[in-house]
Amino acid sequence: MTSLTDATDQVPEAILDLARGAARVCVLTGAGMSAESGIPTFRDVQVGLWERFDPAELASPQAWERDHAQVWAWYAWRASLVRRAAPNAGHEALAAWQRRPGVDLAVVTQNVDDLHERAGAEVLAHVHGSLFTLRCARCDRPSDAAYPEVTGPVGHLDPPVCGVCGGPVRPGVVWFGEALPEADFLAGADAAREADLVLVVGTSGLVHPAATIPHLAGARGVPVVEVNPRETAVSEAADEVWRAPAAEALPALVAALAGATPPP
Ligand code: OAD
Repeated sequence: MTSLTDATDQVPEAILDLARGAARVCVLTGAGMSAESGIPTFRDVQVGLWERFDPAELASPQAWERDHAQVWAWYAWRASLVRRAAPNAGHEALAAWQRRPGVDLAVVTQNVDDLHERAGAEVLAHVHGSLFTLRCARCDRPSDAAYPEVTGPVGHLDPPVCGVCGGPVRPGVVWFGEALPEADFLAGADAAREADLVLVVGTSGLVHPAATIPHLAGARGVPVVEVNPRETAVSEAADEVWRAPAAEALPALVAALAGATPPP
């Protein structure tokens, strides 16, 4: 268990000061946020059956047009991974920070999993959609179908069909080349612009327009802090960088804050 003294020692002082003084916080999360829950990031090597495939290639309208069953099998595998995974200490810490009195903390995520919600956090925006919100690829109506449980190597699975028009059901995620859900993107961009602090956690900052969100805030003079073990496209524009995994950095930060007086 992390004691308050240990936690305060671990947190870079400048970052703790920014967090202590922030009444409005916007946290932009990416795949690295869920890495320690066992969900591979997009730029990690894929595992098992899927290691030969490029995720950016499978997450595309072209792949879907070519082979619905292959894309559906890949998402069913990913959905099974997510269902078996548990939120990590980083997700829990953000949820705890959100519950702190006097703090308005917006979670804006590029992740299509539901680990923030399962940790008890409220997510303002899923800018790349949600794995579990299925819809018809033909008529666009929401579908209450579900992914089958996939535990072994399954390369093809026929997607369910829409109860209304008989079209194939697809994941409710944004594929490369598709537009982002406008309301989510605008809510995320506004939350960042209006924040006292933007924390960017576990994203390579390579996929636009989500990657513009920290820059929109920076252009307004909002301090931007990056939490990521590696250098990224966001690093240079960040005011402070903390090279640490999310599941270590965020619990330490929130534990250190617990000793601080909430902002006025
Ligand atoms: P990426 O896979 O591009 O980047 C993951 C980032 O997480 C990298 O910068 C890693 O250094 C970092 N990372 C790894 N382990 C970490 C840890 N334990 N703690 C903190 N950071 C860690 O994922 P995203 O930036 O989220 O889009 O990718 C953005 C979008 O590209 C995704 O939403 C998806 C993808 O293709 C769509 O599906 C449209």
